[in-house]
Amino acid sequence: MGCELTKMIKSEPHDLMNQPPPPSDPRCPLTTKQQYCMLASWKGIFRQIEKTGVLLFIKLFEENEDLLHLFEKFQELRTTEDLSQSEELAEHANKVMHTLDEGIKGLGDIDTFLAYIQHVGATHHQVPGFKAENFWKIEQPFLQAAKTTLGERYTANVENIYKLTIKFILENLVKGYEDSAGKEIGNNETT
Ligand code: HEM
Repeated sequence: MGCELTKMIKSEPHDLMNQPPPPSDPRCPLTTKQQYCMLASWKGIFRQIEKTGVLLFIKLFEENEDLLHLFEKFQELRTTEDLSQSEELAEHANKVMHTLDEGIKGLGDIDTFLAYIQHVGATHHQVPGFKAENFWKIEQPFLQAAKTTLGERYTANVENIYKLTIKFILENLVKGYEDSAGKEIGNNETT
């Protein structure tokens, strides 16, 4: 008996360490392990958040020049050099990146994540001429900017996790935008 108890006590910490992590919410495309990995990797982006954001927007406008007309403040920006030196663009890029940061750090609580991201999506109704499909235009620029910032740390595994994450975020920005069509959206916290 004593011997059995000793065995149990001795084996317990080992068993706990060998237990699989708790399952993630089925609505989240990332496993719990992938969420940890995303958060750990995102710290590398967060340390260079503004630079990564500017890179993202430069790539977005290089690949989709037609989107520039949606941004009142960026009308004067013609060349890549103009874009990279613009304070307005850096400020906007920073706001978008901090929105992504808030979303990514909240992935562990899916209800809050969905409410937040869908609300941000809905606020884009205030942008004249905006269409839901515009959100997807940011997918590749986001991945390219993350790759540039992370360098060697952007492994195949990390790339896969970033792809799942941005897809999940964009799907929910679109959902928020579409579900709120025709409704009035308050945007005090996002604009
Ligand atoms: C990851 C996806 C995106 C996120 C998280 C996001 C987030 C935001 C946020 C937080 C704002 C308010 C900024 C402010 O206070 O000035 C905003 C505004 C805006 N967004 Fe997005 N956005 C995303 C994608 C896009 C895309 C792909 C477009 C492309 C056309 C776009 C177009 C705009 C425009 C035109 C504004 C208004 C800017 C202004 O009034 O100066 N967004 N977005």
